[in-house]
Amino acid sequence: MKKDLINKAKIVLDGNFQEKGYSIPCKGLYPFQWKWDSGFIAIGFAHYDMDKAKQEVETLLKAQWQNGFIPHIVFHVESDTYFPGPDYHRSDLSPLSNKEYPSTGMTQPPVIGFTLEKIYNIASDKDDALKFVKKNIDKVYFNHQYFYENRDPQNEGLVFIYHNWESGTDNSPLWDDIWKTMNPPEYVFKRRDTDLVDPEQRPSKREYDHYLHIIEIAKEHNYSDEKIAELSPFLVQDPLFNTMLIKSNSSLIALYKLIGGNEDKIKQLEKWQEKSIKSFNSKLYDTELGAYIHYDLRNEKPIRFVSSSSFSPLYAGIPSKEQAKTLVNTMMSKFGDENMYLCASFDPTHERFNPKKYWRGPVWINLNWILYYGLKEYGFNEIAKRVKNDSIELIEKAGFYEYFDARKQIYKTENGGYGGNNFSWSAALLLDLINN
Ligand code: GLC
Repeated sequence: MKKDLINKAKIVLDGNFQEKGYSIPCKGLYPFQWKWDSGFIAIGFAHYDMDKAKQEVETLLKAQWQNGFIPHIVFHVESDTYFPGPDYHRSDLSPLSNKEYPSTGMTQPPVIGFTLEKIYNIASDKDDALKFVKKNIDKVYFNHQYFYENRDPQNEGLVFIYHNWESGTDNSPLWDDIWKTMNPPEYVFKRRDTDLVDPEQRPSKREYDHYLHIIEIAKEHNYSDEKIAELSPFLVQDPLFNTMLIKSNSSLIALYKLIGGNEDKIKQLEKWQEKSIKSFNSKLYDTELGAYIHYDLRNEKPIRFVSSSSFSPLYAGIPSKEQAKTLVNTMMSKFGDENMYLCASFDPTHERFNPKKYWRGPVWINLNWILYYGLKEYGFNEIAKRVKNDSIELIEKAGFYEYFDARKQIYKTENGGYGGNNFSWSAALLLDLINN
């Protein structure tokens, strides 16, 4: 059974790998290279095709900008199945963009640091893997430097995202109150996603108006980070995004130590790390909710909801043991009902929860993967095992979908797998979970 699933996962991954050395998340819906997808995908490939794992990372890093920025989508090809594409995003407007690789002017969670470490750990040929790490690590360091120097205007060690697409959790209810502060024009455009997937499972037209409006503002200022910090109606400190950065910092430190030398970089990383973790626990931890939360930097107020992102800091060793216990209690009391698979993307006890709609409730395999390792790190082995088994069971039952209904009941009568099928990171991270 497991062998069968492993083979199917490899077929999905191999089928999505492109000639130019990167993978699409899935056919039709996502025809380009996405940043954080590439990290997760590379980890999957590392288990059986090291060459593809390396290419995946290197192709992404080739698209890095002059200031260290790594874009959220790299448009390696033309495609008419996706909106908004390269002609809309216009990365060429930025004087710092990479003119060889058209991209968006926004980024995604910084996963490449820990991807390098995972690849190294999985590799059987350590010399070869270290050579690969050596060749690429400075680019990732440069990317972290970009974040701390351009995305942290109050010098707190917490970086901001300026667009919901930067979070990776696109249409989460977390952003609903920010949309209420905006009144964008009714843009006229032709979406492609809703031709490919049931609109019930995707963001609304009005939500898209907001998404586009933020990009319009950024474009007006040629993607200047300074102007964005000053003017973007969306400016958020996201615990998931910052967790990915902090985890990747740790990985860079570990890898630089393996390589030897690089004392200055290690020192700088440790400095960032100390400051980030301190601010994280003072600013993003909500004692009353017993969870980490987002902070709306534009409107200077906490965004007080519990989502799967609230538990992600376990993955980077951010909470104290006490806090970790509280987090797990919160998770189990809100998300852990026996009739539900772990872990819904948004608080199932909240009225904004929607079990079918993208990041408003369904289970996502990448978040489960992050939680699995985080829970294990703190010794919550039983719950970690449940997260892992639930992930495997969902894929076994429904297929390699993009996201999954958390309600067990549903699977008796219908397929609870939603969004794109043959989705790369679901396959890649399943391989990693099974091999662990
Ligand atoms: C969706 C997801 C995002 C992902 C992208 C490609 O936009 O919300 O996290 O990176 O699809 O898979």
